Amino acid sequence: MTPAVNPAMTSLVAHAPGRVNLIGDHTDYAGGLALPMAIDLGTTIIGHRGGDQLRLHSEQFRTAMMEALPIMDTQIEPIWARYVAAVATDMRLSLGFDGTITSTLPLGAGLSSSASLEIAVALALGFDGTPMELALLAQRSEFAAVGVPCGLLDQFACAFGRDGHALLIDFTASSIEPVLMPENLEIIVVHSGVERTLAGSAYSERRAACETAASIIGELPTCAIGDVDAISDPVVRRRARHVITECERVREGAHALRSDDGAGFGSLMIESHASLRNDFEVSTPEVDDLVARLISIPGVHGARMTGAGFGGCVVAACKPGAIPEPTSITGRGWKVQAAGPARVEMLEV
Ligand code: GLA
Repeated sequence: MTPAVNPAMTSLVAHAPGRVNLIGDHTDYAGGLALPMAIDLGTTIIGHRGGDQLRLHSEQFRTAMMEALPIMDTQIEPIWARYVAAVATDMRLSLGFDGTITSTLPLGAGLSSSASLEIAVALALGFDGTPMELALLAQRSEFAAVGVPCGLLDQFACAFGRDGHALLIDFTASSIEPVLMPENLEIIVVHSGVERTLAGSAYSERRAACETAASIIGELPTCAIGDVDAISDPVVRRRARHVITECERVREGAHALRSDDGAGFGSLMIESHASLRNDFEVSTPEVDDLVARLISIPGVHGARMTGAGFGGCVVAACKPGAIPEPTSITGRGWKVQAAGPARVEMLEV
């Protein structure tokens, strides 16, 4: 949908993709591995820079109208405007902006709607730096806006997306390797219908448990699975086991994609979901049912929750045409393609 703006006032279009994580969740903040891809759903801002007011109009959501250049304040309404204010504050914005914002992403559903918003806003407001600096700005803004101590999975995927490729990310080395998506593999995302919020304490608790585990046995991605026996607390032990086994699945998953082994990749997704459900305890019964339903469909290689969990979306890897109508499963579903990075285009006026 093209947002309605006065063309005479339009001077730029900023777009930031969302992402789907194919495998490797709750590993980023532990310095582990993940394999996301930027997707062809995202946030678009059309408008022009100038003046001393920051105004973003949204037809989908309540409009954020900031009467003056904003200072980040956790009471700002609507909530999405807090992300905008956090980015503007971090950038020490001194020039205003007037524009319209639209999103094709389901919000708060595990497809990085907030990182996509922050990055699109930063580009629209004139961010001028490297993709790495852009990702770090978005991570700081997420924390300032809603207090979530997130890793860099979402921001890296959005800032470094590559058309037709997944990204093998090593969060200790900060290295990103593109992995070509096999032509005969379709990626389908289905909404479980359960809305989730990341701001809850559960995410922070998982992160803290991983830090406790690392203080006992060392950096989790470098540990062997037997090392978890040294952790006496059973919950912390399970959390560590998830991170260690998930990093191994990411390695094998990248290999499966490179070998055009959709079935092998699907089995790893199913194992990943079981680990997130049993050891990391971030799934929900509705999400588990949806995964079970998807993997019972002929031609679906595998499925798993994606992102932080606690509801939101499920991702499935399928033979082409296995799920011809992604909306037919729960009413909200998408066939997604691996997309390029966030970008801004200056227009002639
Ligand atoms: C959210 C966070 C990411 C990552 C995922 C789980 O999307 O923003 O940093 O931790 O959850 O993999």
